[in-house]
Amino acid sequence: MVTIAVFGHTGLLGKPLTAALAETTATVKVLYRAGSDVSQLPAGVETTEISYDDEAGLTKALSGVDIVVPLQGGPAITVQKKIIPAAKAAGVKLFVPSEYGVAWTAEDGAGVPLVEAKHEVEHEIQKADIPYVKINTGGFANLFLGQPFFGVDVKNNKLDVSGESLDVPAGISSIEYIGAAVAAILTTSSPSSLAGRTLGIYEVKATAGDIAAALKAKHGKEPEITYTPVDKLKANFQASTDPLHRLVGGVRLKWAAGTTDAGNEEWDGEVKGYTKKPLAELF
Ligand SMILES: NC(=O)c1ccc[n+]([C@@H]2O[C@H](COP(=O)([O-])OP(=O)(O)OC[C@H]3O[C@@H](n4cnc5c(N)ncnc54)[C@H](OP(=O)(O)O)[C@@H]3O)[C@@H](O)[C@H]2O)c1
Repeated sequence: MVTIAVFGHTGLLGKPLTAALAETTATVKVLYRAGSDVSQLPAGVETTEISYDDEAGLTKALSGVDIVVPLQGGPAITVQKKIIPAAKAAGVKLFVPSEYGVAWTAEDGAGVPLVEAKHEVEHEIQKADIPYVKINTGGFANLFLGQPFFGVDVKNNKLDVSGESLDVPAGISSIEYIGAAVAAILTTSSPSSLAGRTLGIYEVKATAGDIAAALKAKHGKEPEITYTPVDKLKANFQASTDPLHRLVGGVRLKWAAGTTDAGNEEWDGEVKGYTKKPLAELF
């Protein structure tokens, strides 16, 4: 039986992923910092308070752990770097860095602070020579389809397209699907068989054309479709210094180029207890 340590269990993804892991046969240990709420955890989940600044304490907490699942997000992504030496010292078999997005390369992620931070973390894992697997999910449905800044405005039946986006599918996943699929991956494959891979897990793959059709079905009339040229997307990206705008702009550029999921090894294994929802139900 595998033992999995989770960091960041209270987060947007941390909650459904911890809940899904708790449903498996794995031993699940939540390692939490002082002040983090552990009152809502599912039964059977073990807890240990840690400090990210106490490497010896972290190493002790990771003793006997097979798989490390850090789930920090946003500006806390680099906090993962504090876990790496302890994971190495404890001899964990697999590190699953907090990725869960589109498939960035060093080139197309340049200038996107979140992506640069994720690449920095990956570099540290490689330097420490810890086996790791990256899991990409495409856009989180609640954000990609739920916030108009990516171009999909469900409430107002509007869609803004660029480049190839009308015709090239992009991966989209609900956080519930991601939680269930990651739990399935980590508990049905051995750590050694996952090491070195970059998996793509998608609840749906949809073109902007598919999204337009789903919007039409929802509203009973054609969505208003506008077109933003790629050059304009690039200019907006370059003009912005805000980390969130850079991330959104970078994702829109990748969607326009049809590369949101490029290079991922698509995983579509069985996810017990979860049935994938169609696009319209992810709105
Ligand atoms: N593809 C997409 O559309 C998409 C969308 C959103 C997120 N993501 C990705 O999903 C992953 C998880 O993101 P998320 O949004 O779930 O994360 P989040 O909710 O922003 O944060 C997760 C947890 O990190 C912990 N944390 C926050 N600041 C910290 C600090 N300074 N030190 C240590 N721990 C800290 C917090 O837990 P405690 O307070 O309990 O310690 C928090 O609940 C990230 O890789 C993110 O980029 C992808």
